[in-house]
Amino acid sequence: MSELRQRQPVSSSGPSQNTDSTPSRSQQRRADTEDSHGISVLDIIRVLATLVLASCGLSYYITNSESLLWGYRPWFTRWPVVKNYLTGPVNLTPVELSLYNGSDPSLPIYLAVNGSIFDVSANPLVYGPGGSYNFFAGRDATRAFVTGCFEEDLTPDLIGAEEMFMPVEDVEEAGITNAQKKLRLEREIRSARTAVGKTVSRWEGFFRNHKKYFQVGKVLDDGVVDPEKGKRVLCEGAQKQRQKRSEMKEGS
Ligand code: HEM
Repeated sequence: MSELRQRQPVSSSGPSQNTDSTPSRSQQRRADTEDSHGISVLDIIRVLATLVLASCGLSYYITNSESLLWGYRPWFTRWPVVKNYLTGPVNLTPVELSLYNGSDPSLPIYLAVNGSIFDVSANPLVYGPGGSYNFFAGRDATRAFVTGCFEEDLTPDLIGAEEMFMPVEDVEEAGITNAQKKLRLEREIRSARTAVGKTVSRWEGFFRNHKKYFQVGKVLDDGVVDPEKGKRVLCEGAQKQRQKRSEMKEGS
């Protein structure tokens, strides 16, 4: 303390003696350099942190308290997804899956599309008991997602569902050989199967990318053979949606 009190002020008119308490010439030069730049690394960090905080605040306000990142929600920011990642996937047989249909309030509500199980507990009004789409809960009803037949098609069996995207042969065609018809049929079956695949992927993507639903696991094959597999006829609702050959444009 006494040393500090005895410190001499630095003379502005000339070089002072370099005692222990006065800064060395190099220290002085460094301080001068910092002063001349005006912005330190700390200042930059402060500005960036303020901008990030302001952006998060604005996003939270604009997205109605839904997101701090302007709607971008990486999986690790969603607690149920992180929890599922840590605890591991929930793979269930169809019989086990049927328990998760919302009738037991202590269990989450699951549905499956194309063998992937999704947790849809966030929407009990739609998937819970009495909900408009409760029939999807506790099962893999991929076929109904394609055909829209919510009574007959609550099954994962897609065999024959492509017929929905094939034209009804309602006219006698002249000027086309059997070989040409066969080739056309093959082409139409291929594109109908692609259409089924696309519809299934769209629904799978819907649940996978939904902000409140998330995938928990896969449906396990329990070895039980569905007696109806491959024998289902196209349901009436899907039949009605089929295009007629007579209404198709030439060459399409
Ligand atoms: C292939 C046919 C269809 C499928 C697979 C399907 C599937 C679904 C699914 C899964 C949901 C729930 C979405 C969510 O979790 O947020 C939903 C909601 C809804 N769908 Fe459909 N749907 C179909 C056709 C229709 C049709 C034709 C209508 C109207 C006549 C319709 C009206 C609605 C309505 C109003 C909702 C909102 C939720 C509700 O009020 O129940 N859907 N649909």
